[in-house]
Amino acid sequence: MTICWRLDDSRQTIVLGSEKDHLPEVVYWGPRLHEDEDLDVLFEAHSIDVTGGMLDQNPELSICPEETRSFPGQPGLVVRNTDGSPLLPKFCFKKAIENENELELIYEDQQNSFTYNATFKIDEITHVITSFANITASRPIYLQWLAAPVVPAPQNGEDIIDFSGRWCGEFQLNRTKWSPGIRHRENRTGRTGHEHFPGLILPCYGATNTSGHAYAFHYGWSGGHRMIAEELPDGRRQIQIGNASQIEIEPKMKFESGPLYSTFSDNGINGCAVAFQRHARDQIVSWPKPENPRPVHYNCWEAVYFNHDLEELKDIAKRASKLGAERFVLDDGWFGSRDDDTQALSDWEVDLRKYPTGLTPLIEYVHSLGMGFGIWFEPEMINPNSDVYRAHPEWALGNEDQILGRHQMVLNMALPEVRSYLFERISTILSDNAIDYIKWDHNRVLPMPDAAQTRGSYALLDELRQTFSEVEIESCASGGGRIDFGILKRTQRVWLSDSNDALERLLMQHNAAIFLPSVVTGSHVGPRKCHTSGRELDIRFRAWVAAQRHLGFEMDPRELTVEEMKVLRDVTTWWKSNRDWMFNADILRLDSADSSVIAEQQLSRDGDRFVVFAGKATTSTQIVPRPLELTGLNPNSMYQIELINKEDCLGLSRGNPILKYKPIKLSGSYLMNQGITLPWSFPESMWVLEGKLL
Ligand code: DGJ
Repeated sequence: MTICWRLDDSRQTIVLGSEKDHLPEVVYWGPRLHEDEDLDVLFEAHSIDVTGGMLDQNPELSICPEETRSFPGQPGLVVRNTDGSPLLPKFCFKKAIENENELELIYEDQQNSFTYNATFKIDEITHVITSFANITASRPIYLQWLAAPVVPAPQNGEDIIDFSGRWCGEFQLNRTKWSPGIRHRENRTGRTGHEHFPGLILPCYGATNTSGHAYAFHYGWSGGHRMIAEELPDGRRQIQIGNASQIEIEPKMKFESGPLYSTFSDNGINGCAVAFQRHARDQIVSWPKPENPRPVHYNCWEAVYFNHDLEELKDIAKRASKLGAERFVLDDGWFGSRDDDTQALSDWEVDLRKYPTGLTPLIEYVHSLGMGFGIWFEPEMINPNSDVYRAHPEWALGNEDQILGRHQMVLNMALPEVRSYLFERISTILSDNAIDYIKWDHNRVLPMPDAAQTRGSYALLDELRQTFSEVEIESCASGGGRIDFGILKRTQRVWLSDSNDALERLLMQHNAAIFLPSVVTGSHVGPRKCHTSGRELDIRFRAWVAAQRHLGFEMDPRELTVEEMKVLRDVTTWWKSNRDWMFNADILRLDSADSSVIAEQQLSRDGDRFVVFAGKATTSTQIVPRPLELTGLNPNSMYQIELINKEDCLGLSRGNPILKYKPIKLSGSYLMNQGITLPWSFPESMWVLEGKLL
């Protein structure tokens, strides 16, 4: 007998089907199907032929492919007995629970006494499908690998796009070609990492940012993932994503995958990006005070590093507030004897040498300037040179002779006594001081991957959030080393990168927008000479790049010239008057005909206004700018567009593109098909164009 299930939203349908009580296969996933589609016929139509050199029937590419059913590729579940002997699951249908937009499938393996459970939820508004799997056994077993429900990948495309990166170079796109065998990404660092952002995009033939079919995935877990994109000998392709393999150290009776977020788009990669951006903002992040505008940040790290002096910090805070900052974040260096990065992590007591009467004088001063106060912690870490390590060396994770990272070890977050120590320390600081924000750092990889560590970190975060529900948290890990929807369920902002170099940021922000909305993506105007790249960039470029996301400042404001202060104030004023709609807007990546231009269009939810940021990264090969085509507009509507930083036009721009002089009215059709003609500009500069529906 065949059983089929379908889940739909307005743009996509996913159909699962099975026969003979076997685990189901995704037999269709793509544009929404007609309501009357006969799923049994669809199931039969999906079956592929058999020819010479094959088994007599094609093994199912099910949601958890089983070796016991002759599956020729990677299995979806690998488990062992506690004596190390392999277990070979073979599941049979037990029950399906169908609710609106949700399907839960329960399968049993009676011989091994296992239950396998897969859940799918489709969000009608964001178009994101959330799926997860779990396995329960009647006795403790070892888990080697459990994939979130497995889906077939489209065969009408040749590219696999995944992500790599490094410190100060997050969100690099990798395009590899499908070929027989496996594209295997495995993150064994124990945190989400700069190196392996858990995202995957499968464009179909001809897909661009703005058009065509594309599938995309994001795995919402902060302990490292494994991704397999495999083409089988028969041509079928499968995607398996789950926790990195063998990171469950102990035998247990229940294991679960993290949530896999996926979506199909019929309007290019932007369709996937918008789905993830909206899902992150509206379904994943919880905002303590959603009605409050996002404040402009000032972070003192690159101004003072570990040299905290109260009077100096007050002076900096005053200058930052004059520039328009609304929240002051006191970074590393305020606790223990933290005079450099070799010591004191875990000694979470205010350093009375630097703050003789505690943090109150600084906090009160910051408040008197009208700013909120945030503070830096790195809770999961410990320096061997710390009082806490001297008292509790057994709290550190891993061997004593392990390689340190930034002179530090990781605390074993699976230990309840470690979590309660951290909870007590952090909550004392938060209760004794008027603090509304934590920058939560994580500056090294684990000595070995361990899922219990991630669960321990989540538990501490959850407990703190329950107790201090009004405190917002920023996830930082040497910049963007812990960015995923698992951590975003517990935080409200990510520090995308330690690079404040606007040129590097321009591309990183562009790529990260496939998953992250502007409202969670921190971006700061850094020092004139960037501390991590040595590059000197003009203040206009630095300010506009930061204004594309959640704006902040991180330079020493005492270095600013009068002109630089004016630019910063002006851009900040612009940002403040646009932030409310921009934070609900969709970021649409534009397909620039000029590869030196990295451009995006932030379009309001109701489509009545937009802003285009066209960043010029390098000098173009041709002489004058190519037209830049916009997207997502109504072809039959008229829009007024205006270049709002016309004053940045250079003497070398000697012609008369109309936008240099005045706003103009053009149709959506013109803007999307012909594109806008921008004035000539230097590299490392940004044009900002506002559009309004007439
Ligand atoms: C790494 C972070 O990414 C920086 O922004 C800063 O907070 C330092 N750690 C402090 O040690």
